[in-house]
Amino acid sequence: MTELPIGLGVIGCGWAAGEIARATTRLHALRIVAAFDADPARARSFADKTHARIASGIDDVLADPAVSTVYVGLPHYLLSPTVERALMAGKHVLAEKPLSLDAADARRLGRLAESNGLKLGVFYELRRSGTVSTAKRIFGDGEIGEPRLVRLRTIIDKRADYWGAPGAPNWRASREQAGGGVLLMNSIHQLDTLRYITGLDYVSAQGDVATFRAVADVEDAGAALLRLSNGGIVSIVASAHSPGANNDETIEIDGTLGRLDLPDPFGIAPLRLYRTETKVWNDISVERPDSHLLMLESFVAAIVTGGPVPASAGDAAAAIGTVNAIYRSGIERRTIDIA
Ligand SMILES: NC(=O)c1ccc[n+]([C@@H]2O[C@H](COP(=O)([O-])OP(=O)(O)OC[C@H]3O[C@@H](n4cnc5c(N)ncnc54)[C@H](O)[C@@H]3O)[C@@H](O)[C@H]2O)c1
Repeated sequence: MTELPIGLGVIGCGWAAGEIARATTRLHALRIVAAFDADPARARSFADKTHARIASGIDDVLADPAVSTVYVGLPHYLLSPTVERALMAGKHVLAEKPLSLDAADARRLGRLAESNGLKLGVFYELRRSGTVSTAKRIFGDGEIGEPRLVRLRTIIDKRADYWGAPGAPNWRASREQAGGGVLLMNSIHQLDTLRYITGLDYVSAQGDVATFRAVADVEDAGAALLRLSNGGIVSIVASAHSPGANNDETIEIDGTLGRLDLPDPFGIAPLRLYRTETKVWNDISVERPDSHLLMLESFVAAIVTGGPVPASAGDAAAAIGTVNAIYRSGIERRTIDIA
């Protein structure tokens, strides 16, 4: 039986970890007990907010008997090796997306967790937004039938310093460290969400990417066509620097019986549902539960009850495999099958 509150060790105290800290203050079942960041100032600031012990390194976090579970919020290239170390140390792990830069590696981590009787969750918190939960229910009720054509838009206007200071690019600008740009960093949430809502998989990809404005060796723009496992088609268009973009990350699903639009998956704008039979558009309002808090609650429940995690290594493998297939399609100029 797992004792509550669960002691959480945090590795990487950056932006994403700050959201975990915020949500954890509202969750009595989880307590941040130790934290480590390579940047001492970040570790100090995080510890000040959470009252966590500042650990001297990753091994120190993993050796702490009060830590049964680890959150890993590191740059992409460090996620997989750190998750592996934590699993080998016998800790449950909540990893930031994308978990790994490679689908086969993500699946390997999933198997490692399972064979050690540990939980490995991936922080695709959009799954717990009010909009997405409502969309999943509407879809599950059969309101729009089978998905046929889906339009995903990831249209953002990032600040220039998102990629680092002039002359000092950060890890997001590096292909080696980030693995990719706007598709891997941002669109991947929508790709995961569409799988979550519909239960369908991506089976092939054609696409291309480019770097137009970012001082980076990853893409800041891309477009792709994906084939779904039911034969449906998904178009995706992404930009990190679309001038003036604001709240323009959307999902639209045309089905055999109607259409479901998520104009604001991360926020509170109503969903829009059209049913062909009645020829009427309806606005469906949503609450905005704290998706970070709900995601953490679901992960804790998986540890306590032994049930499934809210987003698994297999889900992460599907998402990163799809993004990598788009990248490969652009390089090889052909359709790529997604394993
Ligand atoms: N789920 C979400 O909505 C969401 C949102 C933002 C970021 N993320 C993900 O979170 C992860 C981190 O992104 P971020 O925006 O917080 O980045 P960040 O740069 O703000 O934070 C990363 C932290 O890791 C630290 N770090 C780097 N190398 C380290 C090492 N070897 N050992 C210990 N600490 C080290 C850095 O000092 C920094 O504090 C990424 O995987 C990103 O995709 C997820």
